[in-house]
Amino acid sequence: MRYVSLFSGGGGLDLGFERAGWEPVVCVDNDPVACQTLTHNRPDWNVVCDDIRNFDATPYAGADVVVGGPPCQGFSTAGKGDPNDPRNFLWREYMRVVSEVRPRAVVLENVSALTHRRNGDHLSGIMDELERQGYNFAYGVLNAADYGVPQARRRLVVIGVLDGEASLPTPTTADAQPTVWDAISDLASLPDDPQFSHVANRHAEHVVERWNELAPGESDPNYRRARLDANKPSLTIRAGGGYGPNGDHLAGFHPPIHPTLPRQLTVREAARLQSFPDDWALCGPKTIQGRQIGNAVPVNLGEAIGAHLLDLLEALEASEAVAAA
Ligand SMILES: C[S@@+](CC[C@H](N)C(=O)[O-])C[C@H]1O[C@@H](n2cnc3c(N)ncnc32)[C@H](O)[C@@H]1O
Repeated sequence: MRYVSLFSGGGGLDLGFERAGWEPVVCVDNDPVACQTLTHNRPDWNVVCDDIRNFDATPYAGADVVVGGPPCQGFSTAGKGDPNDPRNFLWREYMRVVSEVRPRAVVLENVSALTHRRNGDHLSGIMDELERQGYNFAYGVLNAADYGVPQARRRLVVIGVLDGEASLPTPTTADAQPTVWDAISDLASLPDDPQFSHVANRHAEHVVERWNELAPGESDPNYRRARLDANKPSLTIRAGGGYGPNGDHLAGFHPPIHPTLPRQLTVREAARLQSFPDDWALCGPKTIQGRQIGNAVPVNLGEAIGAHLLDLLEALEASEAVAAA
């Protein structure tokens, strides 16, 4: 089964789809470093590094599925974000590609904030457009921890199908969510290894002292950062900046604090909490690697979505065969 991947980033969703048995006919992203990560790990993938607004999808007409998570920085969370941010409208480009490819199914992933009333115009715009193009759809906010990911990460997932009934994947680990320690305990004693994206930050002495005092799950109000609880799924791994001691916003990668050590997670630890395999190399400097990881759809969630789509399309083919007989 072949699919078109839009906004592919560092490849979380695509790796999940690959595990489920899918093959990308093209991956599109305008970030050169993310594209480098894709081509480095999968030299045979057709990666187009360009703005989606320049992307002509007609050569890929007839692919089975179009997938993608348009960027979400402009969508409002807790009153932040600008509903008129031009990045919020890239879903229209996604729908333009759908109209050019005319796939049997579509998957759109985004932050759960897209369901907030403030951003409601975008969600209803997406649904109106799916309906106009003839897709039945199901949507909901899925928690990655219910799909074998050691992280509480809530994301909106929309699945549309041209004919037949759409539905979302059933949770697999809702009663036994994987924990932080399941995922990263073996890395705590590993020496720094830049090739493996495992390089510990050297924080200032006063920061180390503060973070040594934090209990599992406790937050440092000055830095607005929490220490992970080893026995629970991780807090959400984010791509964006953190906060300095005066509440000033910082650029770069500022993941949560390690459950047992007085430092932030390394990029590789964050990648494990996003269920990336260790052999997936990350290109670019540390902060850009972190951005690719923080932006990604967790691989295990991508796999659950990809497997569910295969089931949906196979059931559809079976019922079409019965109808034709
Ligand atoms: C949320 S991330 C996608 C993550 C990816 N699906 C994964 O699972 O790893 C959104 C991606 O959209 C890309 N992007 C943003 N604006 C774009 C544009 N105008 N054209 C193409 N890609 C764009 C960003 O570079 C980023 O990698």
